[in-house]
Amino acid sequence: MKILRVLTLGIMVLLLQKQAMAADLIPKPLKHQQKSEVFQLNQSTKIVYAESLNDLAKYLSESLSAPTGWDLELVEAKKAKKNSILLQIDSSISDNIEAYQLSVSTGQVVITGQSSAGVFNAMQTMFQLMPSKVYNKLRQRNVNWTIQGAEIEDEPLYSWRGMMLDASRYFYDKDYVLHLIDMMGMYKMNVLHLHLIDDAGWRLEIKKYPKLTSIGGFRGEGHERTGGYYTQEDLKEIVAYASLRNVEVIPEIEIPAHTLAAIAAYPHLSCTEKEFKVPLQHFISRDLYCVGKESTFEFLEDVFKETFELFPSKYIHIGGDEARYDRWAKCPHCQKRKKDLGLKNEADLQVYFTKRVQQMVKKYGKTIVGWDEMLEKGLEDKAVGMVWHNKKKAISGTKDGHDVVMALTGHCYFDVAESKIPGEVKAATWLPPISLEKTYALNPMIKELDEKYRPQVLGGHATLWSDQFIHGTILQEIEPLNENRSEKYFDYLTFPRMAALAEAVWTPVENKNWDDFEKRMASHYPRLDEAGYGYRVPQPKLISKEKKGKQFEIRLENVVEGAQIRYTTDGVKPNPYSAVYEAPVLVDRLSDFQAITVVNRKQYSLPLYFPEKYEQFKKYGKFLSEWKPALIKGKEFGVLEMNATGKIDSNGQYELAFLFTEGSYRLDIQSVEVYKNGNKITEDVHDGFTGGQSKNNIYKFTIDQYETGAGFTIKAKVRGDLGNDSYGVVFIKKK
Ligand code: ACM
Ligand code: ZN
Repeated sequence: MKILRVLTLGIMVLLLQKQAMAADLIPKPLKHQQKSEVFQLNQSTKIVYAESLNDLAKYLSESLSAPTGWDLELVEAKKAKKNSILLQIDSSISDNIEAYQLSVSTGQVVITGQSSAGVFNAMQTMFQLMPSKVYNKLRQRNVNWTIQGAEIEDEPLYSWRGMMLDASRYFYDKDYVLHLIDMMGMYKMNVLHLHLIDDAGWRLEIKKYPKLTSIGGFRGEGHERTGGYYTQEDLKEIVAYASLRNVEVIPEIEIPAHTLAAIAAYPHLSCTEKEFKVPLQHFISRDLYCVGKESTFEFLEDVFKETFELFPSKYIHIGGDEARYDRWAKCPHCQKRKKDLGLKNEADLQVYFTKRVQQMVKKYGKTIVGWDEMLEKGLEDKAVGMVWHNKKKAISGTKDGHDVVMALTGHCYFDVAESKIPGEVKAATWLPPISLEKTYALNPMIKELDEKYRPQVLGGHATLWSDQFIHGTILQEIEPLNENRSEKYFDYLTFPRMAALAEAVWTPVENKNWDDFEKRMASHYPRLDEAGYGYRVPQPKLISKEKKGKQFEIRLENVVEGAQIRYTTDGVKPNPYSAVYEAPVLVDRLSDFQAITVVNRKQYSLPLYFPEKYEQFKKYGKFLSEWKPALIKGKEFGVLEMNATGKIDSNGQYELAFLFTEGSYRLDIQSVEVYKNGNKITEDVHDGFTGGQSKNNIYKFTIDQYETGAGFTIKAKVRGDLGNDSYGVVFIKKK
């Protein structure tokens, strides 16, 4: 017995040591030498700081005080003391203002920043060398507060590591913005781009134009009325909070499109001067600021003046994307402007608009940032292009003398789903999924780019458009998130992808490694839990699925520290009470097997599963949806609802085919209706049925109002002809 106890103790000590040894740093530092010793934080540890670091010293003390319950003494001094964390600045350590050195040994921790930004970064690394409970805001019991010994020298590869918050389509309150800044700070992301203005809402208080927020900040009537805005005081607080955390806040005042909220407040800003309402549904308005009238520019002068009093950043984002020129083409003011300036077309009018705004903000020393459309033609002064379409825009943009930030839709659009697994949360569906691995694979540098243009690539930037958050309920697909709070979805869509992006923009490509990142990430999920940041729980990782005789052997790996894998072998979706995976599992058919990662009863992943392929139906186009007994009725007609967003991807003629796969009964179909953002736009009503003698089982419709970002649903009236034991698939094909 005694031997057993000693052995158990030995194993526990080993486990504890392993915990203390874990240094799963994200983003991976430039140089990291792990030491076997640890720094023991205790009640009498002092925080010693150089004078200019007063605020950061307080930040550190408050961060540590919450979980430990200790009020560590703050000492202003130049030299380390015994049992202390020293904060100091030494600008000679690097040319990079965000560089830092972190030395953790038994008696002391020394943090040396090239500047205060470096000191902040070092603190984040230090937290990652501590138990995950350090992120908790409440006092924790029975935690051994060690800091793993290390010698670290680190600096980011790129100076722009950004994240966009679309506060226009959905209004996130000030507290959520502060929460996001903390999330960013944890991974050393340093640019917060506030998309404050769009068709769906104006979120920036401008004292001279109160209707921008009193009218443009809200939509809907009565109970339906939603919205809000940031007061100038709120924004000052956000900027100061961010600044301490090495996050620069860049506001976006979009021109000339995506401005309906402003036009609803002040109709004279448009070409037609009609009355407008802030829209309830997501769409991209064709009403732009009128480029012909001088009053438009007077308005913008005033708006920028007040904006720059709030945001010290040297950058101002002016959007510039997705302008359609229908109104300008008909407006006498705009046409006069075009004629007077001898411009060829409306696109040239937009260039004129941009240049004029560029000169307007130059007086304040500001550089304009815009979506890559803006770089297209002839801006004389340097600008920053946010490249979302493709890398070519970065090549031409840098040659024209501009800087670029890579926000490519293939890696950086966090509103896009991470997978195609049914139930996956997606705020956008017009793009293929962006897995964690795909985000990680972002390399902001472009191979084809000439050496001399490379410094003009400033970094990478994620967007998370909220346009589908307007619709709310369509996002509620995953049970643990079944709550109508867009903030939850925002967290879910952001993490863990933001951690992957953080490494892609911080760590040199030669030091990046996906498998290694995935392993390090495992211990970060508990950290996100402690910090109160939501995230998408990853499915178990498939190691192999090998044929063993007549069966398949499935081997999995858990990629979330502290979580369990649970599985089923009867084709039913697993839940947090299903069998625990402990060893490889044998199944007769791969499709019988499903597994999930279970963090706790409320947090678990979507299933890892092996979907049946419907190869034989290829000629009918793409898989859209399926029916099975639980989704249909027998004898009576009911509605089979299918999400067609992403499958309806442009204007044109479509065919929908109902294809029987198994069961006792055929499917009878009465009609097919197509909805865009909840409104019926077309239908095909005729009787049809599936099965061996399928008849009229193809339904046709035409889409002529396609819009990027719009949600499409197809509702079919169907029944199993004598009972609901019927299975099949619905395919969609564009002609
Ligand atoms: C964009 O996605 N319209 C920049
Ligand atoms: Zn006009």
